[in-house]
Amino acid sequence: EKSLIFLGLESSCDDTAAAVVRHAPGTPPEVLSSVVAGQTELHADFGGVVPEIAARAHTEKLDICVEEALETAGMSLTDLDAIAVTAGPGLIGGVLAGVMCAKGLSAGSGLPLVGVNHLAGHALTPRLTDQTEFPYLMLLVSGGHCQFLIAKGPEEFSRLGGTIDDAPGEAFDKTAKLLGLPQPGGPSVEREALKGDETRFRFPRPLLDRPGCDMSFSGLKTALLRERDRLVAEHGGLYRQDRADLCAGFQAAIRDVLAEKSRRALSEYLSLSPTTPTLAVAGGVAANKSLRMALEAVCEQFNTAFLAPPLALCTDNAAMIAWAGIERFRAGQVDGMDLSARPRWPL
Ligand code: KG4
Ligand code: ZN
Repeated sequence: EKSLIFLGLESSCDDTAAAVVRHAPGTPPEVLSSVVAGQTELHADFGGVVPEIAARAHTEKLDICVEEALETAGMSLTDLDAIAVTAGPGLIGGVLAGVMCAKGLSAGSGLPLVGVNHLAGHALTPRLTDQTEFPYLMLLVSGGHCQFLIAKGPEEFSRLGGTIDDAPGEAFDKTAKLLGLPQPGGPSVEREALKGDETRFRFPRPLLDRPGCDMSFSGLKTALLRERDRLVAEHGGLYRQDRADLCAGFQAAIRDVLAEKSRRALSEYLSLSPTTPTLAVAGGVAANKSLRMALEAVCEQFNTAFLAPPLALCTDNAAMIAWAGIERFRAGQVDGMDLSARPRWPL
């Protein structure tokens, strides 16, 4: 096995990212650079990501991100061993922009091309940050995803369950919008929740009565909307304390569902009797402190290590794509110029 240096590209949602990762066998991988250009302001007026706006921004920003990632790493294209790119799942325009950029770089330099599944990128992050051994349990919880996976190998994942409708981050963002709080909703709802009483409003914890690890979060938003409208009708607006209590109650509901489903996922995972059990999290919602504390407590109960990678590698980034590319490459996988963008691509 030789030392490898990969450039990674990511553009499947609303972050344009490029990164350089080096891995010498027997040593921990090194993130030599990781550039992320967000688009929050571009979509701020729309209450969600607008695919056409995102695709255009990716096309504009990819080259700049690549240049900056190479410069920060002190590398040129000739120092690299391959180019890894997110080939899905995600918004088709963005994924296409990334794949076309990677193909251009590959054609110009002769470097091999490695297509990466965005979810595999998140799911392999514990190996980038902590050299976690397979198998481990992974909770992916972001604005677009929510699922439990057992990572068994670089391309071998089994899905234990996930959301059947909204992702928790999406629910946080919609809640913020309903309460007039700034986007992204997660951090602003969390801030409000700190001042609130989580017991005042009892929001539903859907699907806890059913076995398995599936979850549902769309009803929560409807319940919140109903309470908000009731309060507004009652006293002509929302008091500051009302808003804080709504946020606290909402956050508690999400936390309780994720904690309980984590218990079930851990039970299933531990029945496979791995040697060193680990629950790792990834995705922007993993930044939530109340959720983290709840998951830590669950892991303690189960005698399992809890791993939360640094936030910059939990949220969308290209270092995880470069790393997943290295893992695929070491497993003997490369792609050609026929690599296609796959908007839907389950693990
Ligand atoms: O992983 P990410 O950066 O992008 C994708 O969705 O793929 O996650 C962003 C999501 C947003 O919905 C944001 O509101 C949520 O993560 N988020 C949080 C917090 N910080 C970010 N949700 C809850 N609490 C937070 N502190
Ligand atoms: Zn993501």
